[in-house]
Amino acid sequence: MTTTHSSAGNPRVSLTGYATASAWTHFGFEHAQWFSTLRGRALFLPLHLGCRALRRFAPGPGAFTETLYWRHHWFSEWAARQCPGLAIEIGAGLSTRGIAHAARNPQMQWVDYDLPDMVHARANMLASRDLPANYTLEPGDLLATGLGAQLTAPSRGSVIAMTEGVTDYLNREEKQRAWQSISSLLKRLGGGRYLLEIYPRDRIAAFGPAAGVVLDALRRISGRDMLSQLCSSTDEAIGLLENNGFSRARVLPESELADAGRAPPPSQRAFVLIEAQT
Ligand SMILES: C[S@@+](CC[C@H](N)C(=O)[O-])C[C@H]1O[C@@H](n2cnc3c(N)ncnc32)[C@H](O)[C@@H]1O
Repeated sequence: MTTTHSSAGNPRVSLTGYATASAWTHFGFEHAQWFSTLRGRALFLPLHLGCRALRRFAPGPGAFTETLYWRHHWFSEWAARQCPGLAIEIGAGLSTRGIAHAARNPQMQWVDYDLPDMVHARANMLASRDLPANYTLEPGDLLATGLGAQLTAPSRGSVIAMTEGVTDYLNREEKQRAWQSISSLLKRLGGGRYLLEIYPRDRIAAFGPAAGVVLDALRRISGRDMLSQLCSSTDEAIGLLENNGFSRARVLPESELADAGRAPPPSQRAFVLIEAQT
C-alpha cells in the first residue's frame, strides 16, 4: 500500500459506514455479509425497524433505510454503465461494490480509497478472502494533496470516480477541496466522470421533524453541524462542482436510474445523484 500526505480527514464518520455495511447485507448486495459487524447491526437494525414502524404514518421518513438501498444500487448500476477501464471509489467504507465489479470485469482496474483506519479495518476483514487481482485497496485522503498520484490512465475504457455517503459530511471549504482533488485527478488521467449524492437542505425540509432526528444523530457521530454544511439546493452543489474543476454537472434524471419505478416515490427521496465530468 502507498501512502499520500494525509490531513486528518474525518474518520469519525466511518461509524456510519458500519451501519450502511449492515444495510447492504440486509438488502442482499453481493459479498456484503463479509463486512456485517455487530457494531453495524446495532446501528442499522433499530433504525430500520424504526423506519418500518414510521412508514404507515409518515411514508417519506419511513422509507429512509429503503432509500439507502436505492442509493447503493444506483451507484453500482451507474458504474457498470460507464464500462470503466479504471474506477476509483473514495471513502469506500465497507462497500463491496468494487470487489464485485472487478471480479465480473477482469480487464478493468478498481481502486478503493479510504482513510488509514478504515483501510486497516477493512483489510483485516478481507484477510481470508480471495480478492480479484484487478482490485486494489489503498489509504487515500480526499483532503490531502496527491490523491491517486500513482494511478495511470487505462489503455481502454473510461475513467470514473465515486464518493457515496462522503461529501455531505464535509463543510463547504472541504467539499471544494475534495472536488478540486477529484477533478484534478480525473483531468490528469485524461478526463472522466464523477458520481456523488447530495442531500440538499430544500429537499430535506419536506421531511419535517424526522429529518431533524436523523441529522442530530449524525451530528453526534460526525461532530459536525450537518444541516448547516449541506448544500442548500442542487443548483448550489452543481455551481460548486463547476467552480472546482468540473466542466459540467447535472442531476441524474429518473429515466437514467435503473429500476427507478420500484423505488419509493422520488418526491420522498431525500437525496439526488449528481454526475459531474471533466
Ligand atoms: C459514511 S461512510 C460511507 C462509506 C461508504 N461509501 C458507504 O456508502 O457505506 C464515509 C466514509 O468516508 C471516509 N472518509 C471520511 N473522510 C474522508 C477523507 N477525507 N478522505 C477519504 N475518505 C474519507 C470514512 O472513513 C468513511 O469510510
